[in-house]
This record gives sequence, structure tokens and C-alpha cells, in this order.
Amino acid sequence: MARQKITIVGAGNVGATTAHIAATRQLGDIILIDIVEGLAEGKALDIAEAGPVQLYDSFITGTRDWEQTADSNLVIITSGLTRKPGMSRDDLLAKNVQIVKDVSQKIVKHSPDSSIIVVCNPLDAMVYAASKVTGFEKNKVMGMAGELDSARFSYFIASEIGTSVKDVKCILMGGHGDDMVPLPRFTSIGGKHLTDLLDKAKIDELIERTRKGGIEIVNLLGYSAYYAPAAGAFKMADAILTDKKAVTSCCAYCDTEYDAGGYYVGVPAVLGKEGVEKIIELDLNDSELAQFKKSLDHVKQLAEQVDKLL
Ligand code: 2OP
Repeated sequence: MARQKITIVGAGNVGATTAHIAATRQLGDIILIDIVEGLAEGKALDIAEAGPVQLYDSFITGTRDWEQTADSNLVIITSGLTRKPGMSRDDLLAKNVQIVKDVSQKIVKHSPDSSIIVVCNPLDAMVYAASKVTGFEKNKVMGMAGELDSARFSYFIASEIGTSVKDVKCILMGGHGDDMVPLPRFTSIGGKHLTDLLDKAKIDELIERTRKGGIEIVNLLGYSAYYAPAAGAFKMADAILTDKKAVTSCCAYCDTEYDAGGYYVGVPAVLGKEGVEKIIELDLNDSELAQFKKSLDHVKQLAEQVDKLL
């Protein structure tokens, strides 16, 4: 079987950490690209030099030259500005949309048959921008945020209950913003519903912490999270490149699904070699649907801003 080729755009914390995870898991050969001289080259070399110790032999190349990304199977876009304390993800839109536009044009030129996972913020709007600029099939363009937000929710639940994080199954929907929609009714621990294990006040507290999970890290570090975002990006990349048919919380194109009307928003979706292969439609109740609609309306407003800026 031909080796998979993965381009990771942006050699900052998220990009380099994703590259390291992908290398350790031998997902394929990795091209790490950045505009800053020496950054991608240095990080790629460092990751490659860990190979003899960690026993991986993927090829990892750092570059500023898009020619080297040619014919990638998958491109992960992590480039763009990240939040500082006091900023919302939406504050990044005007700058990051231009970065995503430029990167997307380069992907069309060099890897026209690739799938794309967008990781930069504001996430849902940046996926919309990448889709619009590339014109790729809608199922081949998606965003990573729900995996991160679900992971945070799972971790908070496991810590509260005192169980392994592996025993928590949860699904989270909506945009990657403060109005994201964790779904306690669809969350289970060892087969038991979360709603049977914790009272409403405690669940609401964990939901609030999940919604503010990004800024909690920004306030601690002074910059954005990257281990958990990179883990989420790797999970999606792995599902696509090894055709896992894995159910993920994914920012995916929804038209009639959830009555979204042609926008990218967080939903449970099956990922495989065709990218987003199926959207799973949960039987949401009125309150859950109302929360999803509120979040979707926010996503639509950001998409309108993208339309004006592209
Ligand atoms: C987060 O939630 C960076 O948006 C990302 O941490």
C-alpha cells in the first residue's frame, strides 16, 4: 500500500504536536510547513530525531516550499492567530480568514484530491472559508473542535465521578463557541446515563466548564491549548487515512441534516476514506434542538462575515 502523505500547515504548538503524534503513530509521511524561516524545518528535524528513540520511521520534512506538499492525501490547517487572555475566538476571524484563504488556494494548486481538516479559529467559520475557497466536495472539508470539546467534557465527568476517561462516552454538538451543545442525555459511563449519576446542578457546572474550556487554558498559559486539540486532529486524520468509519464529533457540512441549511457545524459524523461519510441524526428533544439552533445561528452570522471578507 502506498504511504499516506499528510501536510500540516502551521508549525506552531498545535501543528508541531499533531505532527509528533502522527509520527509516533506512523500515520504516514509528514510535511510540516510554515512561513516562518526555520520553524517547520527545526521542529520537523527535532521530531525526526526522536524517531530512533520512540521507534518510528515515518519521513518528516519541514519546509516553507508548497511544492513539497504536492499530492498530499490529507491537509491539516493549524495556521493562524490564536487567542490571548481577554480575546474570544471570534476576535480572530478577520485575520485568520485571510490566512485560510491563502492556504486553501495553495491546497487547490498542490493537492487537489486531498481531504482537509481545519483546526484554526473561529473554527466553524474557518471550515466554511476553506470549503468556499477550495470548492472541494463538501464531505472532504471538515473541522476539528467537537473532539476537543467532547474530550474536555469527558475528562471533567471522569474526574467528578472517579472513573477512567475511557469509560465515558459523550457526544457534543454545535459551533466551537460558548454556545456549544454538550448532550448529557447522550452521555454514558459504563452503560449508565450521566443524568442518572450526577444531579442537574453538577452537570450544568461541568457543561459551563466545558464551554469555557479553551479560555481556562488561555488564562493559565497566556496562549491556547495544544495537546488536546492536536489529539483531536490526529483522531480525525487517523479515521480518514485508515478508513476507520469512526464516529466523531466533527464540524461537518449539514444541509437537510438538523435543518442546518448548508452550513458547517459540529455534529456526530462517521469519518472514513471519503472524509465525512455520514452525519448521524440524533433524536434531540425540544430543549436540545433550541440550543443547537442558537449555536447554529451564531455560526451563520460568522459565515456571513466570512462571505464579506473573501
Ligand atoms: C480551544 O478551545 C484553541 O479553540 C481552542 O482550546
